[in-house]
Amino acid sequence: MSASAGDRERVLAHAAEALARARHAIALTGAGLSVESGIPPFRGPGGLWTKHGEPPLDGWQRFLADPKAFWESRLRPEGPMRELARAVEAARPNPGHEALVELERMGVLRCLVTQNIDGLHGRAGQRELAEIHGNARLVRCVGCTSRWPREEIPTDVLPPLCKRCGGLLKADTVSFGEPIPADVLRRSMEEAELADCIVVAGTSATVYPAASLPHAVLGRRGVVIEVNPHESELSSVATFVLRGPAGEVLPRLVHAIRTARG
Ligand code: APR
Repeated sequence: MSASAGDRERVLAHAAEALARARHAIALTGAGLSVESGIPPFRGPGGLWTKHGEPPLDGWQRFLADPKAFWESRLRPEGPMRELARAVEAARPNPGHEALVELERMGVLRCLVTQNIDGLHGRAGQRELAEIHGNARLVRCVGCTSRWPREEIPTDVLPPLCKRCGGLLKADTVSFGEPIPADVLRRSMEEAELADCIVVAGTSATVYPAASLPHAVLGRRGVVIEVNPHESELSSVATFVLRGPAGEVLPRLVHAIRTARG
């Protein structure tokens, strides 16, 4: 039975209270945050994998086997990756991204870990940000983890090599099977260990290690606030479930905290 509007308001008010009084609140976001910016999710209604089937899970192995071919496919993406690349290029931050920036500016949110590669949190102004699956606008050295904006890297000779260590350069976007870069993994895990509250917005919470963050917070009896219009892997264990689109729910969460503060 769906909750009444009054119940939903009460749950949101209690979630806002818990978030406002947290000692160290963080957020984990996924593709659902960018749906209202015109970028399709991967799973669930309208998902890329839902439409085209799950992608091959050996991207990292294919890169290592033939980095030149990997670059060629990235420079001229086809199928679902072309659809995703076009949507990312055209996308702008939406009220969900802006609400999370507001929570940081209010001193409520200490860090945001995102699985999204679209760079929209950074463009919205989020400062304490860990892009655990990378950023499509960056290129990263697989040797020393140095990163550059992709437009600074010449692609006349493929694969491009790192000017610092001579290592192979690749899109910063983490491929399936690729280890999460050590710097961003360490930041994400440290934040999850510090957090006593985590807002989990726009993710099916199915891909690890990102999906382990809310469970780490729960494991230390912290608060998990889910923002998602649909059921996810987390819904049954979340402390608060705010059923709705991030672009609508997150601004209401900000408003509730601001009103409570007077
Ligand atoms: N607001 C909030 N959540 C939404 C919205 C919305 N407007 N629209 C959809 N959602 C929810 C869906 O219900 C779903 O639970 O967003 C979630 C999107 O889930 P996925 O498509 O699985 O995206 P994500 O969880 O980020 O995937 C994790 O999988 O394919 C890999 O590397 C890719 O980072 C990605 C990872």
